[in-house]
Amino acid sequence: MKGSLTSTLIFRSMKITDLPVALRIERQSFATPWSETAFRQALSEKHTHSHLLVVVLEETVVAYAHFMLITGDAHITNFAVDPAYRRRGIGKALLKEILDRIKKMGGELVFLEVRVSNLAAQNLYRRFGFQIHSIRKKYYSDNGEDAYLLWIPELSN
Ligand SMILES: CC(C)(COP(=O)(O)OP(=O)(O)OC[C@H]1O[C@@H](n2cnc3c(N)ncnc32)[C@H](O)[C@@H]1OP(=O)(O)O)[C@@H](O)C(=O)NCCC(=O)NCCS
Repeated sequence: MKGSLTSTLIFRSMKITDLPVALRIERQSFATPWSETAFRQALSEKHTHSHLLVVVLEETVVAYAHFMLITGDAHITNFAVDPAYRRRGIGKALLKEILDRIKKMGGELVFLEVRVSNLAAQNLYRRFGFQIHSIRKKYYSDNGEDAYLLWIPELSN
C-alpha cells in the first residue's frame, strides 16, 4: 500500500536491540555499509556528540539516521530507509525530525556527503535547502566516485 505514512511514525534513539534490523537495512542500502562495530561506537555513551535515531512504524524499525553535533556544526553521517518502505515520505519525515533536533540542540550549520550518482538522496536534501558546497574527489573507496559536500550554512534562517 503506497501513500503518506508520516502520521503514524515514531522517532526515538536507536537501541542495541535495533541493531539486527539496522544492519540489514544498512547492507541493503550501501555498497560500503557500516559494520556492527561502527553502529556500536555511534551508540556508545562515550560519544556524547553522536546521535542515532530510528523511525518506527507499527513497531517495526523502518529507517535511521546518524549525526554528530560539535560546537554548532552538525554532520549527517548516515541516513537510510528500508527499501520496502521507500517513496512514502519516511525519508522526508526523518530529515525534518533530525534538522528540528539539531536546531533545538544549538546546531547552526549542517553538512553531509552524497555520491554524485545518488539522485534520490540529492532530491531529498535539496527539498530541505541543502546546497552544493564543494566536490570531494574520489571520496568513495569502493569505486572512486566523487561526493558532493552539501550544506545548509545557516540552519536557523
Ligand atoms: C534517499 C532515501 C533516504 C529516500 O528515502 P524515502 O523514504 O524513499 O524518501 P521520501 O519518500 O521521503 O522522498 C522524499 C523525496 O526524495 C526524492 N526521492 C526519493 N527517492 C527517489 C528516487 N528513487 N528517485 C528520485 N527522487 C527520489 C524525491 O524528491 C522525494 O519526494 P517526492 O516523493 O515528493 O518526489 C532512500 O532512497 C534511501 O535510503 N536510499 C539508500 C541510502 C541512501 O542513499 N542514503 C543517503 C546517503 S547520503
